[in-house]
Amino acid sequence: MRIRQHVNPLGLHYEQFKGVRPRFEAGRPIEVEIGCAEAQFLFERAVQDPSRTYVGLEIRDELVDHVNRLAAERGAPVHAVFCQAQLHIDEIFGGTKVDRVYVNFPDPWFKRRHHSRRMVDATLAEGIARILRAGGELFVQTDVWDIALDALVAFEPRFDNVAGEWTFWKQGNPYGVRSWREQNAEETGLTIWRLMYRAR
Ligand SMILES: C[S@@+](CC[C@H](N)C(=O)[O-])C[C@H]1O[C@@H](n2cnc3c(N)ncnc32)[C@H](O)[C@@H]1O
Repeated sequence: MRIRQHVNPLGLHYEQFKGVRPRFEAGRPIEVEIGCAEAQFLFERAVQDPSRTYVGLEIRDELVDHVNRLAAERGAPVHAVFCQAQLHIDEIFGGTKVDRVYVNFPDPWFKRRHHSRRMVDATLAEGIARILRAGGELFVQTDVWDIALDALVAFEPRFDNVAGEWTFWKQGNPYGVRSWREQNAEETGLTIWRLMYRAR
């Protein structure tokens, strides 16, 4: 399977929602990873706790198909949704509240002229604030200092920082599963900045 390394989220092709909304079961907790790629994190969470629903939002449609095929083969409660997360979060959840949101290692888009393609911004933060139930967790991880700062600026005014205002979470990843990028960063000894928030 040919998987593109990156796509431009500002492209016209991504403006309209063309994904498939998962069916949500009343009373069943929902966890969401925004930018899930191959969803290693969600598949491992689903093994730990199969009583929840795991939704991965992803802009590369070939990865979405791959994740959904794997989920069907494994009978895992994991659903990938093809979308541009900042634009389509409300359409996907349609009023359903979720219990936890993960933002694991968003693309850095290092070149200055590409900064507008970054996923973590005020629009995404407002979208997350609308879908996360009161008291629900938002966990952010990145190995790129610039993105850690973007995340602080976007999330700090809208969520309660569990580590204290404007403070990184120093207690590591508490969930016992790792995303592919996280595993890679840890194995190569990169610093990881983490943030833990709760919805108001
Ligand atoms: C660097 S990868 C990290 C993947 C995974 N979270 C991990 O930690 O291994 C970032 C992912 O976010 C996806 N992505 C980027 N912008 C997005 C957007 N606006 N909406 C949905 N997904 C996006 C990319 O296609 C990519 O798969």
